[in-house]
Amino acid sequence: MNLYDRIPNNVNLSEDKKLQRALEKWLPNFLDWWREMGPEGFQEKDVWLRTAIDVGSEGWAHFDYVKMPEYRWGIFLEPPQPDAKVGFGDNYGRPAYQEVPGEFRNALRRIIVTQGDTEPASVEQQRQLGKTCPSLYDLRNLFQVNVEEGRHLWAMVYLLHGYFGRDGRDEADALLERRSGNPDKPRILEAFNQPCDDWLNFFAFTMFTDRDGKYQLSALAESGFEPLARTCQFMLTEEAHHMFVGDTGLGRVVRRTAQLMKQGDVRELGGIPLDIVQKYINFWFSYSLDLFGGEISSNSADFFAAGLKGRYKEREQYTDHLATNDTFTMTIVEDGQLKTREVPLRNALNELLRGEYVKDCEKGLARWNKVLADEGASERLFLPNPRFHRHVGEYAGHTFDLQGNLISREEFESRKSEWLPTMDDREYVRSLMHPVYEPGKIANWIAPPAAGIKGKPFEFEYVKL
Ligand SMILES: [Fe+2]
Ligand SMILES: [Fe+2]
Repeated sequence: MNLYDRIPNNVNLSEDKKLQRALEKWLPNFLDWWREMGPEGFQEKDVWLRTAIDVGSEGWAHFDYVKMPEYRWGIFLEPPQPDAKVGFGDNYGRPAYQEVPGEFRNALRRIIVTQGDTEPASVEQQRQLGKTCPSLYDLRNLFQVNVEEGRHLWAMVYLLHGYFGRDGRDEADALLERRSGNPDKPRILEAFNQPCDDWLNFFAFTMFTDRDGKYQLSALAESGFEPLARTCQFMLTEEAHHMFVGDTGLGRVVRRTAQLMKQGDVRELGGIPLDIVQKYINFWFSYSLDLFGGEISSNSADFFAAGLKGRYKEREQYTDHLATNDTFTMTIVEDGQLKTREVPLRNALNELLRGEYVKDCEKGLARWNKVLADEGASERLFLPNPRFHRHVGEYAGHTFDLQGNLISREEFESRKSEWLPTMDDREYVRSLMHPVYEPGKIANWIAPPAAGIKGKPFEFEYVKL
């Protein structure tokens, strides 16, 4: 096999022998990891997958049956902009960094490793889900998400190998050594150590946690380190499908539940009651908010000053790219009370990005509530207050109700089972998870999708079993 067939790329890999050797050495380790930690039980099956073969807006995605270990994990960056400049921060307007600036080396490596670590982690979290898929259509979507997270890992490993020398190679190896949920060598971020072992978890994860990915990637797509910016710009095109899977998946659960509500008791009819859906939303939304980091953060200020991590749509949305004089009004906990405090804007950039994310999540909730309205149900789903159930930042260590009111630890503990999935809830959801492998058939707890993938009908044989 020639190099391009093994590692499709638009980074001229064949001209860079050193990088090529490094990646070719890493490839078998990646494949070992994929076989050990990728989707269990389906490695030899033909799956109708989209493969990135180019970055052009037309036809970058090629659809065909592929066995997952033979998926071509390529390296694709958006084409460079002539005269690219650093778009924000203290070096605003200077030429974009084509190499890693020495003074930012550690910060940049940390950003790339943290992003890179989430990609294989989610594959590990989801590896058992194929055994309980609600339809072949959903099974295919799961595997699509999985192989693309694998490609996102490649994208970050390319940057580590290509720009960070020896320590980059060591970090690339470590990305294959940590394991989601393993107490001795866990993944870096907590949401990626949480089990994702039923399909309600999967849909909530792809809705809320992959959407965090969209916002992190968007902020890095603004980066003054051009190879990172261009890498993230292309990753965003794939990320959109992951969020589609979560958003429409939960929407279909909600539709089915609303239909069953009209017929009688949802539980007795084998559906997922709306209050359990709400608890899963509360769980994954709050864990995903943690991924943005502390509300008041000197790291966020440093990353912005250095031109490494911008604001959401920095170029499009803002005219002042220095953000030196502005302040941000933050709600904090002080002396057992909620108070407001003015902080320099640069120290509030995590919170600013989190705010953009919350707005985006709200649109999803509005879509699900429209489904409920269409089906004639009066109940509505909602997002908990961002202070609820947080483990990182200003609100960690305090307890809040769903509306964001500060409450005592005792009250939180006594009401927790109303707000977050209990063992019983999880067991009930798991009890519904039986595989449906027949083309065109669907599990009872979820409605079929409005359309298939890429013009194919729902009945299409998306995975050949
Ligand atoms: Fe990803
Ligand atoms: Fe994703």
